[in-house]
Amino acid sequence: MTDNLSVIKLENICLSYSGTDTKVLDHLNLEINKGDRIGLMAPNGSGKTTLLHTIMGLCKPEAGTIKIFGKVLENEKDFLPIRSKIGLLFQDSDDQLFCPTVLDDVAFGPLNLGFSRQDAIDRSRKILEKLGIQIFEQSITHRLSGGQKRLVALASVLAMEPEVLLLDEPTAGLDTKVKKKLKDILNSLDISYFVISHEFDFISQVTDKVYSMENGKILTDEEIHIHHHEHVHKHGKHPHIHK
Ligand SMILES: Nc1ncnc2c1ncn2[C@@H]1O[C@H](COP(=O)(O)OP(=O)(O)O)[C@@H](O)[C@H]1O
Ligand SMILES: [Mg+2]
Repeated sequence: MTDNLSVIKLENICLSYSGTDTKVLDHLNLEINKGDRIGLMAPNGSGKTTLLHTIMGLCKPEAGTIKIFGKVLENEKDFLPIRSKIGLLFQDSDDQLFCPTVLDDVAFGPLNLGFSRQDAIDRSRKILEKLGIQIFEQSITHRLSGGQKRLVALASVLAMEPEVLLLDEPTAGLDTKVKKKLKDILNSLDISYFVISHEFDFISQVTDKVYSMENGKILTDEEIHIHHHEHVHKHGKHPHIHK
């Protein structure tokens, strides 16, 4: 990346799933810049996962522009090289992990990037250690608990040394201990990230601004005001007074 601060820029993205008329993303705009730590809180079904998959080129919008590191991406060939630079932590860890052992899963990405077997293993061990899960190195991935799998999935993403992380509900189903660990890991990273969560406590501790999503569009923090104990509502667009 040169002087350009823009990491991800979506402009007027429209997307409907085939066979439906509903626009899941409707002229959506989003910008993630270098150093940003942004949270996204929005109800189920509002299109959050679709948005992340669109950034990765896994869902194809029918209109709009996707710019990553300042370059417009259109087809699979354009998206391939950026998939190692943008790490997506899937909503379901089982979608991310497919190798027999933890070490194989974490080393898969670096091996794919062209690292030698030994370098991929060294790199993977380093990241497993950083996440405090090196004891699971030889464990059978699918036998791990949900929380352990989430950390292994995160290790497999971080092993690619991405420049930005997209996390799709990383705290879902985690106990307090793993949640705290995830919080500490995120706060120790020096890369940009965009994290979806329903948990305000978590999101407010790992991000600098929180967006929402409604009618296929992003509402930035100038447009919403999140109330910890009550509800999310538009602030700027529909101003009102609280008692
Ligand atoms: N593969 C698909 N085919 C058809 N509809 C889908 C598909 N994936 C998601 N949807 C629909 O698109 C909408 C947004 O889904 P999603 O992006 O998963 O929302 P969220 O992550 O915010 O819960 C929902 O109404 C969902 O049912
Ligand atoms: Mg989702």
